[in-house]
Formats: sequence, C-alpha cells, structure tokens
Amino acid sequence: MKVGLLGCGTVGSGVVRLLTHNAEQLEARIGARVEIHRVLVRNPNRPRPEECRRSWITTDPEAVLGDPEIDLIVEVMGGEQPTKGYLERAMTAGKGVVSANKLLLAKYGPALLEMAARHSVDLAFEAAVGGGIPVIRTLREALTGDSVVSVHGILNGTCNYILTRMRNEGASFGAVLADAQKLGYAEANPSMDVDGHDAAQKLVVLSMLAFGAAVDVDSVPVEGIREVDDVDFRFASRFDFNIKHLAIGRLKGDALELRVHPTMVPTSSVLANINDVLNGVYLQGRALGPCLLVGKGAGELPTAVSVVSDLVDVARDRLAQVSGLATRSIHPRPRRIVPMDELETRYYLRFDVADDPGVLGHIASALGAQGVSVEQMVQDGRAVTRDAAVPILIISHRCREGAVRAAAQAVGKAPFLKRPPRYMRIEEI
Ligand code: NAP
Ligand code: HSE
Repeated sequence: MKVGLLGCGTVGSGVVRLLTHNAEQLEARIGARVEIHRVLVRNPNRPRPEECRRSWITTDPEAVLGDPEIDLIVEVMGGEQPTKGYLERAMTAGKGVVSANKLLLAKYGPALLEMAARHSVDLAFEAAVGGGIPVIRTLREALTGDSVVSVHGILNGTCNYILTRMRNEGASFGAVLADAQKLGYAEANPSMDVDGHDAAQKLVVLSMLAFGAAVDVDSVPVEGIREVDDVDFRFASRFDFNIKHLAIGRLKGDALELRVHPTMVPTSSVLANINDVLNGVYLQGRALGPCLLVGKGAGELPTAVSVVSDLVDVARDRLAQVSGLATRSIHPRPRRIVPMDELETRYYLRFDVADDPGVLGHIASALGAQGVSVEQMVQDGRAVTRDAAVPILIISHRCREGAVRAAAQAVGKAPFLKRPPRYMRIEEI
C-alpha cells in the first residue's frame, strides 16, 4: 500500500517515524506492507526527521493527489483551504483518507462523510479530537450498542495547562500562556486555544459521533479562559471546587445542550483531577453509565499513534475490498441547540464592590427579583481604602441562566460596583 502524506510538521514527523520504526509490526497487523511514497510540504528546505527520505519530498500537490499508485492519503497539513479541496480530490479518485484536521471535520464533517460514502472510500479522523486518546474509536465502535447521553471534555491541553499552573502556583494567565507557546502546546494562533474555539471544534466532532448531530460550529456558545482570575481560584477551593475549561454536550429531548466555557467542578470529580496538558473525556452512556478516557491530547508521537492506527484500519478495509466501515454508521442530522438563557444549573457569582452598608442587600434583592436563590455567600475581608473593592462571592441554587444574567445586569448598573459582575457555571460531575 502506498501512502501520500500531506504535511510533515509536528504530527507528520511522528507519522513518518512510526511508519518507519514499526514497519514490520504494521505489515503483520495489516497483511500488507505500507510504504510512504510522497510527502507534500510547503518549504522543501525545512529540516525533516532523518527517517523522511529526500526523494519523497515534493511541493507539488499533483505529484501526490494525481499519482494513481497512491492508495491512501494521510492529511496532517491542517487549515481549511487548499486542504479541503485536496481531501475531496483524493476521495473522488478512490483513495482512502486519514485526517487529523479538527477544523475541517467540525466545519464540513457531514459533507465529507457523505462524499466518502458516495465514493466508497474510508475517511478516518481519530487524531482530530484528543490527540492520542482513542475517543473517536470508542464512540464509533465500542459504544454503538448504547446511546450516549452526555459528553464532558477537557479538550484543549493549552487551557488545561494554564489553569493548572494558575491554580497551583498562583501564576498569571499571560506568563503561563507564554510557557505553553514555548512548549509547543498552543496553536500557531493561541487565540484558538485560550478563547475556546479549538475545544468547540472538537466538541462539534464528538457530537457528530455521540449524538448523530450536524452542528454549525459557530452556533456553539463558547467562552475562553482569559477572564478567569486568581481570586476565582481562591474562592473555588474555599467552596470545594476546581476550575476546568470544559466542552459539554448533553441530550435534552430532541435538542442538544452544547457549550464550551470555564466551569466550576467539585474537587471530588474525576475531571477536577485531570491536570497539566492532559485531555480527558467523560462519557455517560444510557446503559453503560460513566466511561472516562484520559491521555495526551497533543504532541508528535501521541497524535501520530492515532493517525497510524487509522491508517491500519483504512488499509485493512482496502485490502478486504470493503469501505466505509469507519463511518457508515454515522448519519448526522441538524439538532436544535438549547439557548444559554434556558440552561439550568448552579452558579458561582462574583461581585467586586465598595465596602458600604446596603450593598449586600441590593445584590440579594436583585437576585431575589429574578428568582435566583442563594445557597452560600462569602465576603472576604474589608476594603482597606474607600476606593478599594471587596469581592462578594455567591453560590446559587439551581436556576435558569437567563435569570442570573438579568440579575447580574441589574447589579451591573449600581454605583457601588467596581468591576462588571462575573458568573461561572457549576457542573455536578
Ligand atoms: P504543523 O507542524 O504546522 O505542520 C503542517 C505541515 O503541513 C508542515 O509540514 C507544512 O509544510 C505543511 N503544509 C501546510 N500548509 C501546506 C500547503 N498549503 N501546502 C503544502 N504543505 C503544507 O502542524 P501540526 O501541528 O503537525 O498539525 C497538523 C494537523 O494535525 C492540524 O490539522 C492539527 O490541528 C492536527 N493536530 C495536531 C496536533 C498536535 O499536537 N500538533 C494534535 C492533534 C491534531 P512545511 O513543513 O514546509 O511548513
Ligand atoms: N493546541 C491544541 C491543544 C493541540 O492545546 O490541545 C491539540 O489539538
């Protein structure tokens, strides 16, 4: 079997290494030898791993996509265009495709699956979500006998790394982000990570498999971690919570709750204890109950493991002259996404206020007027000067987000408020 590799950066280098070093083992597992035939890159002079032969390198897409000898295309280039066109071209030509591209799968997943089916080829994409964690395979194969009712994911390693260090060391967001970039965790544009878009794309891909949902990624409510403050960590631990950036999907009748945001989770929760750059996906099956997958969500070799395992599946199908095994059970259809104002959960609210008489009463009245009931309240210390702020922290009982938002807006107009009110959702898992 001849492979055309599109891209040889972080993940592509890992793929070249695994295919080279595990060649015999892979041949035994597939029943045929898999060989790299061509490697498409942008800059032919950039250093490549020593396992990557110079004769493979090309900058001409036609040398890969138009070569009839190539059976399988592995796309680890990233980006939307020209990548999408290359994948379409490969499938139209009857080549099996493996892709690590979450952006493409999130934006065009249903259309690409439909195209693979039409051309009787495989399209596999394990590495698109959770790097080396076999979550796509778990949803696609292991859980086909059950119905998934919810998915809670720590899907962005950069956010998890930053929040972990902010909590453990009291480090500032900016300093830890710079470290995450140096360590190669963050995307070229770190806004994709810290503003939550990377996690939202991964959630859309998971929802396609878990709930059979075709979701427009732009319709997913997304919040990043820029607004999370060390004060929030201090109070989170006082209330026995940790703060995690979660991507949450949950069946709500025929609709779907889908959201990505910083979340307070009880310190006893398994997700509260998945730290540093690790990813974790906590699935709830109707019959199975909970199922937790944890591992490296990024990096050269962990991600390459997922890509090469997909390649094994696609190569085996091809050898057996069957196709679509990877994706034929997925029939995504549009679903209504529950608006955030309809969400019902407990909330953590923070009001930074002047330390004056009547302030607490004003806040309590605004919450009461919206039917938001207080479960716990803390005011920490006294303001040292007239202009200094004191934080008032409130944990609400379960209530509608629309009510919390309206109460926060009402308090937001008060003269005693030193900063806009903040609230964070609490997730009982
Ligand atoms: P990367 O290091 O930037 O590598 C991209 C490769 O694609 C480079 O070799 C680049 O060529 C080549 N390339 C890009 N645009 C091209 C074009 N228009 N024509 C020809 N070659 C082109 O990216 P990466 O981190 O390996 O990520 C690749 C994909 O895997 C992305 O979809 C990413 O989201 C996904 N992914 C990555 C990770 C991770 O840990 N990095 C984890 C999971 C999924 P040059 O080398 O010549 O520049
Ligand atoms: N930038 C991503 C992360 C890489 O931090 O998780 C894996 O998609």
